[in-house]
Amino acid sequence: MNDKNSQNDIVSWLWRYGAPMIAGAILIADIYITAKKLQQRSKTENSSMYAESFSTDIGDLDIGVNLNSFLLKEKPKVTFNDIGGLDEVKEVLRMEVIYPKIKSELYSLYNKKPGCGILLFGPPGCGKTLIAKALANECGPNVKFIAPMISDIMSRWVGDSEKIIAAIFNYAKNLGECIIFLDEIDSLLPRSGPSYMKRIKNTFLQCIDGINSKKENLLIVGATNAPWLLDPAARRPGRFDKIIYVPPPDFQARKSIFQIHLKEIISNGMLGEDVNIDELALLTNGYTGADIKAICEEAKETVLKQALSQGSIRPISMQDLAAAIRKRTPSTLPWITEAIRSIKRYKEYEFYEIINKKIRADNDASNS
Ligand SMILES: Nc1ncnc2c1ncn2[C@@H]1O[C@H](COP(=O)(O)OP(=O)(O)OP(=O)(O)O)[C@@H](O)[C@H]1O
Ligand SMILES: [Mg+2]
Repeated sequence: MNDKNSQNDIVSWLWRYGAPMIAGAILIADIYITAKKLQQRSKTENSSMYAESFSTDIGDLDIGVNLNSFLLKEKPKVTFNDIGGLDEVKEVLRMEVIYPKIKSELYSLYNKKPGCGILLFGPPGCGKTLIAKALANECGPNVKFIAPMISDIMSRWVGDSEKIIAAIFNYAKNLGECIIFLDEIDSLLPRSGPSYMKRIKNTFLQCIDGINSKKENLLIVGATNAPWLLDPAARRPGRFDKIIYVPPPDFQARKSIFQIHLKEIISNGMLGEDVNIDELALLTNGYTGADIKAICEEAKETVLKQALSQGSIRPISMQDLAAAIRKRTPSTLPWITEAIRSIKRYKEYEFYEIINKKIRADNDASNS
């Protein structure tokens, strides 16, 4: 084929396919520009919608986020008394967080400075969120508690997450003494990830370093099921350097959790005389606090249904509770299996030590 022919071929090809392609490209570009304009408009609308909530000293908040929604309107009502077991965790939190706030003179007398980052880790449903909320209460009325959702930080336009993080820290500083609670923190500070994630992570770590260097009255409490997925840089001294295991409940803890979740039933005189809490705790080895709560709810539902359908009002019996236990499988085992696999993969043996120590202690207690 000579040059002239091939040129003709190109021209005719362009004539047949080129024009529609160009038209298509223009159409796509048009749709893209319209979508961008709409995004821009909705951002502006959001910002103005929330503008009232911000005070001017909070920083650059032209990002359509209502920081006031991060501040719990009411402090959680739960206290340490509503949490069964976890005595060691409560004690560490008293020493590290509560006493430095409510007995601050004593701490300054011995020049003992509180840390600024605590990482709670453990299986799902064992009380991490519950204890963080109780901590806010136990610190007294002067200490504020904010719990931004990681999804509120992450699901924004590129670059906005960093602004939101900086604004949250700024906001917390303006509140005076404050605890920032971040649930599922591994998704904010992952070991690896795309470059935008690295920027978000670095901004967060810089903010923590800032608290340290300026000696601000902020405490960051993070919670995770998988601390080995966290960037080890987040656990450096001065950051999340206090790591606390919130383990599955042991025998004594399971007893208290049953008592807590059956408290009203007991005070209403609706718990059968045959119910043996020790026996329930024995039957629920490997179950979490959330499982135990669900078991109590299931038993309540059984008797309530009978009361509604047959009109027979009777106390909850051991059989109701045992049947509810049989319906559920203990949920801590899958977590422990996965934990061991991940610990080996990431060579994070420090966590293995912590988990194993608790398993050994529980075994010793049940054998004695
Ligand atoms: N130690 C406990 N004492 C009393 N209730 C408990 C305890 N642990 C868990 N529960 C019950 O289970 C529910 C779920 O617990 P929580 O949300 O604190 O678990 P979590 O460890 O944060 O789980 P996840 O990892 O899934 O976030 C609590 O709201 C509470 O009703
Ligand atoms: Mg939680």
